[in-house]
Amino acid sequence: MASFIVSSVFLVLVSWHCLSLISVRVSAQTSPVFACDAATNPQVASFGFCNASLGTDARVADLVQRLTLQEKILFIVNGAGSVSRLGIPKYEWWSEALHGVSNVGPGTKFTGLVPGATSFPQVILTAASFNTSLFEAIGRVVSTEARAMYNVGLAGLTYWSPNINIFRDPRWGRGQETPGEDPLLSSKYGSSYVKGLQQADGDDPSRLKVAACCKHYTAYDLDNWKGVDRYHFNAVVTQQDMDDTFQPPFKSCVIDGNVASVMCSYNQVNGKPTCADPDLLSGVIRGQWKLNGYIVSDCDSVDVFYNNQHYTKTPEEAAAKAILAGLDLNCGSFLGQHTEAAVKAGLLNESAIDKAITNNFATLMRLGFFDGDPSKQPYGELGPKDVCTPEHQELAREAARQGIVLLKNKAGSLPLSPTTIKTLAVIGPNANVTKTMIGNYEGIPCKYTTPLQGLTTSVATTYVPGCTNVACGTAQVDDAKKAAASADATVLVMGIDQSLERESFDRVDLLLPGQQSLLITEVAKAAKGPVILVIMSGGGFDVSFAKNDDKVTSILWVGYPGEAGGAAIADVIFGYYNPSGRLPMTWYPQSYVDKVPMTNMNMRPDPSNGYPGRTYRFYTGETIYTFGDGLSYTTFSHKLAKAPTLVSIPLEGDHVCRSSECKSVEAIEQSCKNLAFDVHLRVQNRGSYGASHTVFLFSTPPMVHNSPRKHLLGFEKVSLSGKSETFVRFKVDVCKDLSVVDELGSRKVALGQHVLHVGSLKHSLTVGI
Ligand SMILES: *[C@@H]1O[C@H](CO)[C@@H](O)[C@H](O)[C@H]1NC(C)=O
Ligand SMILES: *[C@@H]1O[C@H](CO)[C@@H](O)[C@H](O)[C@H]1NC(C)=O
Ligand SMILES: *[C@@H]1O[C@H](CO)[C@@H](O)[C@H](O)[C@H]1NC(C)=O
Ligand SMILES: *[C@@H]1O[C@H](CO)[C@@H](O)[C@H](O)[C@H]1NC(C)=O
Repeated sequence: MASFIVSSVFLVLVSWHCLSLISVRVSAQTSPVFACDAATNPQVASFGFCNASLGTDARVADLVQRLTLQEKILFIVNGAGSVSRLGIPKYEWWSEALHGVSNVGPGTKFTGLVPGATSFPQVILTAASFNTSLFEAIGRVVSTEARAMYNVGLAGLTYWSPNINIFRDPRWGRGQETPGEDPLLSSKYGSSYVKGLQQADGDDPSRLKVAACCKHYTAYDLDNWKGVDRYHFNAVVTQQDMDDTFQPPFKSCVIDGNVASVMCSYNQVNGKPTCADPDLLSGVIRGQWKLNGYIVSDCDSVDVFYNNQHYTKTPEEAAAKAILAGLDLNCGSFLGQHTEAAVKAGLLNESAIDKAITNNFATLMRLGFFDGDPSKQPYGELGPKDVCTPEHQELAREAARQGIVLLKNKAGSLPLSPTTIKTLAVIGPNANVTKTMIGNYEGIPCKYTTPLQGLTTSVATTYVPGCTNVACGTAQVDDAKKAAASADATVLVMGIDQSLERESFDRVDLLLPGQQSLLITEVAKAAKGPVILVIMSGGGFDVSFAKNDDKVTSILWVGYPGEAGGAAIADVIFGYYNPSGRLPMTWYPQSYVDKVPMTNMNMRPDPSNGYPGRTYRFYTGETIYTFGDGLSYTTFSHKLAKAPTLVSIPLEGDHVCRSSECKSVEAIEQSCKNLAFDVHLRVQNRGSYGASHTVFLFSTPPMVHNSPRKHLLGFEKVSLSGKSETFVRFKVDVCKDLSVVDELGSRKVALGQHVLHVGSLKHSLTVGI
């Protein structure tokens, strides 16, 4: 960076009395990294790539042709190098913002100037809100804080978030980072969050506020299970599962969310590392979906497929394969070390590198990186005052409230009334936690409100940890029982933390660890008043012991609820907020993990060997709780106001299905394009409590092509005051929404009877020709 070089020279020359120059040097460390700085390098004015009145393509082309091969290679790794003769500083591509600006990537730091950023709930809980405007609102706050930190030199412009992999198996240590098990919810979450991060003010749609990245492409959802790790795992995936489960969130992220980047994963899919697969990268992401942006490897997938998977004989071949497959940027240093030799060996042409850096530079250009001083550009006014504002922190609390799921509530248990409940026993290893609440890919939060602190705001509490940590080797049952026996109500805050589910660490079973269930059962037996079990976790548990125990009067799942989690938990427990979260994933019984190896990627059941299948779309076995479960302090009724009973696909007279029996027709047929119908519902809040309520529209297609037993067509969250009603309208596109993927990966609309479900309401719809 030109300004750095100039100021370091000053530092050397500065003598002890030049205090003013020293302070200039210090303030230089708090300024953003950018290229084309006319103040320090007047020559930049003559460079075409610095000329903001030219189009992006022309500017990028101008820049690329000025670089030597060695210089080009500096720009295909995350720690990008500088070219001082062109006024281009070093740039660190790797920043993270999964649920708030994070310092997990080297591109972002917290200092005295910005000591923390707003830490929203871990994604799995935000997803449980089923509120797409919330997903986008969080993205907007995160990108505002990111820009504010960039402006003072503490953060980058490129964020490798969100993680939109399907939460395929309940044991996955990173399931917490995802929006759950359903492709539609994951698609809506991904595209909404990405819009919130990326969409810039002003009329230039190509402009980016910050650049997001959907990861990890694709079929990546195993970290380390019984010795099988992600660096060596070959995910064997059928074409059908690929196209109706693993790919849809990525497709939506690129097409609907317009994301600026996709990250390829560590694992192989059907024998090929994803970062070396030209069909998956150039073919699908860039060819079919038309990504406008760059493809980045996980850190360092290229090294992994060479050194761990031995996919190529030489490192040069690995470098060439990755770039030729369509990889633009390597998180890691592998391409920096081996690409020049690969070119010299004739394994790849310089033009392939030009293509990669063109995608990378174009992204930085859209971010304004080559437009000179950021303080004179959009978002230039943002600074430390815009991080952790009261509004941002309130949204973190609101997001947690909206996500918290009430799973069980015996009449008269919740909400607790602060006028009748005067004392509360607060028990459990997660009852007074801070960092546990923010999960992984976290930052430093603005502040924490622990569950104990949140609850203590409303009533007098007695706190007993009950276990020394979540592993709960030996529970201290007696103190806990004593507290519960003398308090008007008891809240047990149990569950796990990153010591038991995290990146590189999958669970092996689904039971609460150690003596947690013993503690819960014993406390419930001894308690004087209602007993509220709060489970803090990413993944679900087999809590049938508590579900079936009458003494455990309520169960709440609170995910990892973020910096304000404790306040939100208290809001729900005392009824200041009526819970509206719904589970974004199935909770299986412990027996599930005995039957299902985590390594089996198949979504569909296999009756020949008793394999039960995965997620609510395919699994028909016993569940503890299921996708979409969640109670309110009020009840709702749904009535169908409008829906067709028959839809005809107008096929041409000579169509093959006119002369012979067809079970389905291609969803791309001209005739079924733009064929849509409305479903209108009258939704009534029957109680007096105001509430938010998510209306789910599911469909069960006819039994052809091994189709899902049920799948989500749409969801809409509405807000209803007590004793009021509203209309909810769904537009159902026959080809897009009613179709299923066949065995070969083609979308087909099944002919025959489809059943639409809304709650317990069922409606039959015949699709004919
Ligand atoms: C920037 O590009 C515009 C459009 O081509 C041109 O008119 C202008 O002279 C250029 N500015 C500089 C400083 O070269
Ligand atoms: C490099 O370019 C030449 C000339 O266009 C072409 O014949 C050759 O196949 C290319 N090599 C690679 C490895 O792509
Ligand atoms: C609860 O946690 C907070 C924050 O870490 C701490 O300040 C407080 O002392 C703890 N309270 C108890 C009773 O341990
Ligand atoms: C969805 O979230 C937004 C942002 O917090 C909120 O204003 C809105 O009320 C929520 N919608 C419902 C139906 O709860």
